[in-house]
Amino acid sequence: MKKIAVFGSGNGSNFQAIIEYFQGKNIDFTCCSDKKDSYIHERAKNLSVKNFYVPFENTFEFIKKNPFELIVLAGYMRILPISIIKTANVINIHPSLLPAYKGINAIKKSYLDKSPKTGVTVHQVSEDVDSGNIIAQLPVSISDNMSLWEFETAIHKAEHFLYPRVIEHLLFKVPLIELLGENQRESVIIW
Ligand code: GRF
Repeated sequence: MKKIAVFGSGNGSNFQAIIEYFQGKNIDFTCCSDKKDSYIHERAKNLSVKNFYVPFENTFEFIKKNPFELIVLAGYMRILPISIIKTANVINIHPSLLPAYKGINAIKKSYLDKSPKTGVTVHQVSEDVDSGNIIAQLPVSISDNMSLWEFETAIHKAEHFLYPRVIEHLLFKVPLIELLGENQRESVIIW
């Protein structure tokens, strides 16, 4: 059975979308957070997924003891050391069309700019923040009169759609295009 870890520091909505997408499929998920009180733990309990508080300084040891086929970062607010990136396959989701709006507050920054370059990106994790090879992107446009909250909701909806499908593509070598519905086939940018 494939062993996958999802690392998050906060809300965990992407984690939940991933677990729900793979429900009934044979994948052994582990939820890890560097924050003891993060809501992702609650979600893991409600979804009956193993969950661990992994202090950042123990992360390398934890991963060495528990090798995972894929490490999925979902709102994980730490920069993984090179030792981990070199030994594990790690991916991340970022709420912009990288390379635009790297770093924190990408949603608010792109909203305030009324940027046409908005959307979400799933990428490999490399040494530099939000800079690894891009796997896929899904653009989200900011329509007139859209509030920040509405835009944020649209971004999260795009994340929850794209991330599980990219994970399935990576794990089972299914072409990503086959995992997209008719409507998204033209929107998703596959690298
Ligand atoms: C997402 O917007 C993701 O792109 C970013 O952090 C946020 C995490 O949200 N890296 P959640 O914890 O999955 O709800």
